[in-house]
Formats: sequence, structure tokens, C-alpha cells
Amino acid sequence: MIDTHTHINCIEELSIDKIIQNAKDNGVEKLIVPAAYPSDIDIVAELVEKYENVYGLLGVHPSEVKDWDDSLIDKIKEYSISPKIVGIGEIGLDYYWDKSFNDLQKELFIKQIQIANEHNLPISIHMRESTKDCMDILKQYAKTKIIFHCFSGSKETMMECLKMNSMISFAGPITFKNARQAPECIKACPINRIITETDSPYLTPVPFRGKENEPMYVEYVAKKICEIKQLDESNACKQIEENFN
Ligand code: NI
Repeated sequence: MIDTHTHINCIEELSIDKIIQNAKDNGVEKLIVPAAYPSDIDIVAELVEKYENVYGLLGVHPSEVKDWDDSLIDKIKEYSISPKIVGIGEIGLDYYWDKSFNDLQKELFIKQIQIANEHNLPISIHMRESTKDCMDILKQYAKTKIIFHCFSGSKETMMECLKMNSMISFAGPITFKNARQAPECIKACPINRIITETDSPYLTPVPFRGKENEPMYVEYVAKKICEIKQLDESNACKQIEENFN
């Protein structure tokens, strides 16, 4: 299995060595670590050098773009030469927490998509309360593969996403009792367009809610997808890995 989106550098209760060991012991072979804060860019670049099975995404999360500075562009480009940097992310628009800098979010979203285009790297998208603007920008600017990270939208939105060159990534919330839209999205999404993630340390799946999340729990996301789609787990996991690759 692969955890395609885990902030291992933000997990507080465990050392990174322990997180990686737990993942390996539970059949999670690859971890993809996105940057969120500007300071994560150096951290992710170091992690991918240090750990063989860790890959990275570089970028600045929409809620953190107030701390953007243009020198980050050179930094991202320089680190992206490494074959272990597999995409730009997580980037996007988040109007949920703070609407006071939407324009800055849009400007830097576009700038980061352009870095991805220039380096032919996939993009990992964070889209919250911003579907229309986010989709408009992607349609206009994105030229590389798109991952809709921790997808939590409606089935209609997902069908729009699938019309683009994209993968839909599901996380722990699909296991929650109050997940209303997730089952119909999962039913409607072809298995060759699905990938799995934990978004740890957040959004711990059932039955571990309340504990800090970590990559080994990605299994529970995959299990839920198989349960909803009535698929054999080992075949589905192989397919999901192929999708990611
Ligand atoms: Ni994230």
C-alpha cells in the first residue's frame, strides 16, 4: 500500500523512524509527504534524501500563502530536480478558514501550477469551500496530472474532476459515520481513478478516531473503499498502487 499524502513531520507522538517502521510492518511501502508551510520545503527535501521509501511534494498550502516569498520558487525548482520529488503540493484554495486573502491564494495557486507545468510534475490539490474558483483555475492553467487530495465534495463535483486529467484521493473521513457524500462518490468513481491517503496526523480513520493518525492506518481507507465497491482487497490495492505510479 501507499500513503499518498502524509505530513509525517507534523506527527507529534512518534519519531519519524517509528512512523516509517510502523508503516513497513503494516505493508505500507511508500509514503508521499507534501509540504504545507514554507518551512516544510526544506524539511521534505531532507526527508526524501534520508528515507528510501519517502517521496515528496513541494509547495505552499493555500492557508499558509501569507508567508510566501518569491525565493521559494527557486528553491522548489532546485529541489524538484531530485527524482524523489514527485509533484507540487499541496496547493489550492481554502476559503473555509479565512476569506481575507482569496486573491493572494489565487495568485500563488496559479504561480505554483506554472512551476508544475514547467517541470512536468503532477499537482496535489487542496480545495475547500472554493470549488468554483479552484476548478476554473485548474481548467485554465493545469497541464499536468491532478490529484484531488482528501476529496470531500459532492458526486457532481467529482464527476467534473474526473473530466480532467485527475485522480481522486480519499482519506479517513470516508470511514466516519456521518460521511454522507463519500459512499456515492466512491461507488461512482472508477477504481482506476482512485488513490488512498491518510492526511496524517489529521483525520484518523475509524476505528482509531481520537488517536493521532499515521500512515499505517491507510489500510482502513482502502478497506472502506473495497467494502463500498465490493472489491477484493488485494486486487484493489494493486490497482491503487498502479494508479499512483
Ligand atoms: Ni494535507
